[in-house]
Amino acid sequence: MINFQEVTKHYHNHTALRKITFSIEKGEMAFVTGLSGSGKTTLLKLIYLAERPDEGTITVAGWEINKLRGKSIPILRRSVGVVFQDFRLLNNRNVYDNVALALRIRGMKDRELKSRVFDSLKIVNLRHRADSYPDALSGGEQQRIAIARAIVSEPAIILADEPTGNVDPDTSAGIIRTFKDINTRGATILIATHNRELFRNTGRRVLKLDKGNFVGEETV
Ligand SMILES: Nc1ncnc2c1ncn2[C@@H]1O[C@H](COP(=O)(O)OP(=O)(O)O)[C@@H](O)[C@H]1O
Ligand SMILES: [Mg+2]
Repeated sequence: MINFQEVTKHYHNHTALRKITFSIEKGEMAFVTGLSGSGKTTLLKLIYLAERPDEGTITVAGWEINKLRGKSIPILRRSVGVVFQDFRLLNNRNVYDNVALALRIRGMKDRELKSRVFDSLKIVNLRHRADSYPDALSGGEQQRIAIARAIVSEPAIILADEPTGNVDPDTSAGIIRTFKDINTRGATILIATHNRELFRNTGRRVLKLDKGNFVGEETV
């Protein structure tokens, strides 16, 4: 579902990723870990086309993305839901509208849109918060809204960047349970985190980065 072959990414004269090769199979839920600055965020950005590789080949959902141009780019982006580290919720819109936005942009009719938004909010256990504004929610709740927004369009792939960066350990465990639940429904999930607690005892593959190098993987 996601394949990197010898991928290198430079920022000016800094090499953020060096000849990275790995694959994530359809239906997997896996982690990428490493200290701050090891290249985790860059790796996710290459998958959702926020950055382009300097060398190597990346395939996502059957698309060789180095070759994607023009109209194909939004089509690929629809296959990928992203949970950003800083949530990126709109504070002047309520929870319902935050989650609904991507579907509205696509012109989905109100009735289907409403059922999709409430389904997503149910999965993250926040249906009762539909009318709240993000400011009124805890960090963990905001994180779950960001997850609901990422899954509402039922993307094949979900990427999450430090999804528990701003929440306490109990909340983190709940968020990982939510991702497992979404994974059981069929989505392929890749989670970047520096926090080893997050994947301990999950039985999932963990890919390790160190200063831009792929330094191995384990199943924890
Ligand atoms: N836009 C950018 N411009 C220049 N350097 C960057 C940029 N983004 C990241 N870097 C550098 O690339 C390296 C990897 O960063 P990043 O992918 O954010 O790592 P991580 O998510 O593991 O902390 C770091 O040294 C960082 O400073
Ligand atoms: Mg990062």
